[in-house]
Amino acid sequence: MERGQFSSRAGFIMAAAGAAVGLGNVWGFPTQVASNGGGAFVLVYLLLAFCLAYPALMAELIVGRHARANAVIALPMLSDKPTLKLGGKVVGIAGLITVAVILSFYAIIAGWLFAFAIEPIVSFLGFTDAANWLTQFSLSRNIIFTLCFMILTILIIGAGVNQGIERWSKRMMPALVLILIALIGYMLTLPNAMVGLSHYLTPDFSQIFDGQLIISAMGQAFFSLSLGVGCMLIYGSYLSSNENIVKAGAWVTLLDVGLAFVAGLLIIPSMYIAAHFGVEIFDADGALLNSDTLIFTILPALFEQMGAAGPIVALAFFILMSLAALTSSISLLEVPVAYVVEAHKKPRALTSWIIGALVTALSLTIVFNFSWLFGLVITVTTKYSQPILGLFFCLYAGWVWHRNGALAEIKKGYQGAENGLFWKVWPWYVKFVCPLFIIVMFVHAL
Ligand code: PFF
Repeated sequence: MERGQFSSRAGFIMAAAGAAVGLGNVWGFPTQVASNGGGAFVLVYLLLAFCLAYPALMAELIVGRHARANAVIALPMLSDKPTLKLGGKVVGIAGLITVAVILSFYAIIAGWLFAFAIEPIVSFLGFTDAANWLTQFSLSRNIIFTLCFMILTILIIGAGVNQGIERWSKRMMPALVLILIALIGYMLTLPNAMVGLSHYLTPDFSQIFDGQLIISAMGQAFFSLSLGVGCMLIYGSYLSSNENIVKAGAWVTLLDVGLAFVAGLLIIPSMYIAAHFGVEIFDADGALLNSDTLIFTILPALFEQMGAAGPIVALAFFILMSLAALTSSISLLEVPVAYVVEAHKKPRALTSWIIGALVTALSLTIVFNFSWLFGLVITVTTKYSQPILGLFFCLYAGWVWHRNGALAEIKKGYQGAENGLFWKVWPWYVKFVCPLFIIVMFVHAL
């Protein structure tokens, strides 16, 4: 079987960051900040992203590059004991199922982005009713755009041209950063921006030990870095042995966390600006209304303030965000498809359509039962399933795999790794700190 490989470290970093950067950064993170007490969530998130998610990411990347296979095959390879082999397989398969469920809700939100990207054009052409339909929550809109997004994802994965898509992410991501920064500059000139900014940047220290806040931040960090489901393990399996894997992983983490932070810097103050201009963001008690669709209320309110430039900025922003969601959704669908293609030697296109159809059926089930199912599916997969599976990836990398195996893998692209800081800290870290932390946090929260 032929396995592709990234031609350079920069290629790998852009591809893996393209998979990591998506709705988690621009929709998930700001929504969580807004629902979980502002600055306190930001602080806990940053700590967890660097101190917990980064080591867990490294576990997946290193195991993946060592095994040069997907998680269902890679985890059992780390041990000779039949029970541990079976356990590894079960964890890998649980990851495949989780990834499919994540994609099912992801497609719904990404569909909204598509609709919002088309709206400025439809509006410009004078079709006011259609423009309203695109931006208002309705069953028909949700069905149509979820289908569009899923079909596009399936076509790309089925054709196996995702490497080509990674080339877009090289251009898309800098453009996204630029537009976010320009919007932040503009936003800061509007009334009430400073109130929002201080809410974002000033942590209320009395909240940072709140159990629910901590596990929400942990889930968000695992979701944003695509952990626990074997996605990053696959990216590691495509990384060349000549590359310094420690640095590559650090870059992916920095880019992903940096982008989430910048998105929050735009969206949280924009909430307060929108509220100033009469958009209903909070209820009478100051609690957040409609958190799921928060950014779809706030950003258009911000664009509206921009006068004639508004529709152009809206168009550019939502197109870039749709692309960011697409580079993540293809990495989601790739996980189960790559497994079936590699392990069962099935044709790629057919496999993509079959798995894609199953995910779409689940998406539509959520669309039809949105009020209770949407939030539930997100909570189960991102808040619980991803960190718990991430825990098992750490256990396999730290306990099941022999220490020397991991060191040998790291040293391939990083001479003298055994004397570096990473090797002094990481093996103990994945062995004790990450698993203990994840367990303690769950116990504390429950
Ligand atoms: N990290 C992606 C985001 O932040 O939007 C979501 C994601 C992609 C989660 C791939 C899991 C995954 F395997």
